[in-house]
Amino acid sequence: MLVLRLKTVVLLLAFGIVLLLHGCFADDGINRKSFPSGFLFGTASSAYQYEGAVKEDGRGSATWDKFAHTFGKISDFSNADVAVNQYHLFEDDIRLMKEMGMDAYRFSISWPRIFPNGSGQINQAGIDHYNALINSLLAHNIEPYVTLYHWDLPQALEDKYKGWLDTRIINDFANYAETCFEKFGDRVKNWMTFNEPHTFTVQGYDVGLQAPGRCSILLKLFCRAGNSATEPYIVGHNVLLSHATAFDIYKRKYKAKQNGRIGIAFDVMWYVPGTNKTEDIEATQRAQDFQLGWFLDPIMFGDYPTSMRTRAGDRLPRFSKPQSALLKGSIDFVGINHYTTWYAWHNSTSIISTFLNDSIADSGAVTLPFKDGKAIGDRANSIWLYIVPGGFRSLLNYIKNKYGNPLVIITENGMDDPNSILISRKDALKDEKRVKYHNDYLTNLLAAIKEDGCNVKGYFAWSLLDNWEWAAGFSSRFGLYYVDYNDKLKRYAKDSAVWFKNFLTVG
Ligand SMILES: *[C@@H]1O[C@H](CO)[C@@H](O)[C@H](O)[C@H]1NC(C)=O
Ligand SMILES: *[C@@H]1O[C@H](CO)[C@@H](O)[C@H](O)[C@H]1NC(C)=O
Ligand SMILES: *[C@@H]1O[C@H](CO)[C@@H](O)[C@H](O)[C@H]1NC(C)=O
Ligand SMILES: *[C@@H]1O[C@H](CO)[C@@H](O)[C@H](O)[C@H]1NC(C)=O
Repeated sequence: MLVLRLKTVVLLLAFGIVLLLHGCFADDGINRKSFPSGFLFGTASSAYQYEGAVKEDGRGSATWDKFAHTFGKISDFSNADVAVNQYHLFEDDIRLMKEMGMDAYRFSISWPRIFPNGSGQINQAGIDHYNALINSLLAHNIEPYVTLYHWDLPQALEDKYKGWLDTRIINDFANYAETCFEKFGDRVKNWMTFNEPHTFTVQGYDVGLQAPGRCSILLKLFCRAGNSATEPYIVGHNVLLSHATAFDIYKRKYKAKQNGRIGIAFDVMWYVPGTNKTEDIEATQRAQDFQLGWFLDPIMFGDYPTSMRTRAGDRLPRFSKPQSALLKGSIDFVGINHYTTWYAWHNSTSIISTFLNDSIADSGAVTLPFKDGKAIGDRANSIWLYIVPGGFRSLLNYIKNKYGNPLVIITENGMDDPNSILISRKDALKDEKRVKYHNDYLTNLLAAIKEDGCNVKGYFAWSLLDNWEWAAGFSSRFGLYYVDYNDKLKRYAKDSAVWFKNFLTVG
């Protein structure tokens, strides 16, 4: 009896200790140590949204300068001439990253700072600036992840041959990319050729809401020029060939001595079928084909998805055999910018409409963030950004299954709050919604890695600071740090920055 009782006591004690320990960890939730060792955390940014200083140190003008200064294009009538002035404040910003315990920083190089005319003569002041930024990051033990093209095309190339619409851009981009490998590749080991090719292709050339603002939908009511049924495909094609050419140059001339790797950052929302009808499930796949598949299929498999070939017909350019071979396998890691999940249905409209004759109609899918009047999740500030953490895990499994479990880096993930004069700075710093967003998305990422075996090795929060959100101007705040636009662009830690600091520096 006594023996049994003792055993029971010991067991109960042991059980109690386990419960106690479990309780400790459960209270703290997930943190850096929940992730595999070596998993990388960082914040992301882009030159045009952060730098400002658009007329300094010999920078040439960009298509976005012109677009932002065109009346009616930016919702709050702002521009990015000053943005959040990171061009001058980068040393301070690096201290903020360090303060949070971040391992890496994703930023982009501004092409018109390196080549003010897009090609030709190099602007040494531009090289000097990025050398200073890179060296300071490394001095603080923060790994640079560098995007070569985050939408600020030199205006000179738009004027010379309509930019991405002309095949001449392939050589000019490759020359710019090689210049960056040559000048910075001794220290930069992680490159992304493009940020969100699908977004700038569709927004710039199909719906016309971003630079250079070309479209033909809605009887050209909003665009002076463009062809929404052909130009997105031409642009996407030239972007893909530019990527593959830069990858090839790196592989042949720089990889062995610099020992770096090249990826590309895709915008990918997850789509779930609006119903379980076969036609809606098939439409959901097509919606994904016309988003991620458009760019990743050629890079992985050497050609566009079959659904695109079938539906866009001769408007979708073809790859020659050598081009297809150049593309296939031209990637060391897949960058994923993920924010939200939407529903998709089959587009059963049969009227051939000249109003919406574009790549979106070609997909034959209708996508929306709500169904039967009910939203798919809580909304952030942006009209497209609904919070659906489980969609992240589904997307990562889709990539694993479709593309053979490639190395994935989450190159952006985050949410925005409104910038309103009615919200005081004090209240804006209490961003519990953002804390929950990152906690819940990271929890799903962790499950994708640990339970599903998805090969993900890094996570970048968008964004370090509130910044200039393209056509939304300053109306949208995505930062872990608040920027006071009324007081010298001073930075203040939001609760989410404090949350990340605790998450990253535990133990
Ligand atoms: C850019 O082109 C203009 C006009 O052709 C020329 O005057 C200028 O010197 C060029 N700048 C550089 C840096 O090549
Ligand atoms: C479709 O089927 C799946 C699996 O059975 C289920 O989880 C989901 O809720 C269904 N979706 C709809 C819209 O009925
Ligand atoms: C859609 O645009 C393409 C390319 O300009 C054109 O060939 C086609 O006739 C258009 N279709 C309709 C229905 O307007
Ligand atoms: C649905 O398809 C029709 C016919 O191709 C097209 O005119 C219409 O624009 C499409 N609707 C959407 C929302 O894509």
